[in-house]
Amino acid sequence: MRTIEWDNSDSSIKMIDQTLLPGELKTIKCKNVAELCEAIQSLRIRGAPALGICGAFGIALSARLSSAKNAEDMIKDMKAAGDAIKKTRPTAINLAWGVDSVLQIAEEEGVDPQLIRNISLEVAKSMADEDVAINKKIGKNGAKLLRDGDVVLTHCNAGRMACVDWGTALGVIRSAVAEKKKITVIACETRPLNQGSRITAWELQQDKIPVQVIPDSAAGFLMSEGVINKVIVGADRVTQEFVYNKIGTYSLSVLAKEHNIPFYVAAPVSTLDPESWDENVQIEKRSEDELRYIGSCKDLNVPVGVPILNLAFDKTPMENVSAIITENGAFYPPILIDEIILG
Ligand code: MRU
Repeated sequence: MRTIEWDNSDSSIKMIDQTLLPGELKTIKCKNVAELCEAIQSLRIRGAPALGICGAFGIALSARLSSAKNAEDMIKDMKAAGDAIKKTRPTAINLAWGVDSVLQIAEEEGVDPQLIRNISLEVAKSMADEDVAINKKIGKNGAKLLRDGDVVLTHCNAGRMACVDWGTALGVIRSAVAEKKKITVIACETRPLNQGSRITAWELQQDKIPVQVIPDSAAGFLMSEGVINKVIVGADRVTQEFVYNKIGTYSLSVLAKEHNIPFYVAAPVSTLDPESWDENVQIEKRSEDELRYIGSCKDLNVPVGVPILNLAFDKTPMENVSAIITENGAFYPPILIDEIILG
């Protein structure tokens, strides 16, 4: 099944609960915006492209649930829902993009409440389909950069669980494997929530793509030993100056540069943000408990009273990036994101 989809049977948003992976593959349903916000905040659903589709379906859901009697009041309800959804996770621009894309079309074309409901759902569903098509294009464009026998390091999860299907960074690997190239993946564990060891390793195991998990701290040594010859990561937001992605990405980019290893970023055009400067981008700070305890174990990992800084993302300067791979092609330094958008 797809990571996220609309369930026509009860007008809910159905998604795989990623907090349960790899132990359990289970879906949950969000029947209202509050449930959707909880699912996003708890990382039941996560990854920039998947969040974009959450935003789109969330607006469609809010239109379904609104009892407004005219278009203007319904749009007001939908905007309030959109604000609540956008606040859940501030760094990945796709979430706001998904919300705003559906809202804009609903506002422009919806002359009455029923039409708004229909249009919003149609647009959200086609954005979900489009996400898969885009990832396949990213995969095809990126596969050209991988050689038979490559050992590729990836961080966090930029796979099908981070999208509707296929994936961005893992989509590139999947496409290369589909072209019969032998690729081995090294997945960073990605502390503190372990999206790499739990989700990336699970996805690749399902696809029978060789994968080995390492603690985040092992990446530098393995690069120095010549074990890793490429790095591919996803992105939560790409501005003119920086690639914002899971905490730890910046360190990997510095290590890759030091060891002359190509450092690739795979992301859809919807992740590009040509308007924002660094001071406008909020790096999400998450609960101290994610480090205070390890998983659901209640034994202390950090003494009570010691403060914890748990930033979910970091920023990698463009000069550390060897190429940005999008559905419009692969773009090499000097990387100008306006050019990527134009294709
Ligand atoms: O906190 P998460 O799990 O949502 O972080 C996800 C990432 O950092 C991914 O690398 C990014 O969203 C790209 S997903 C294609």
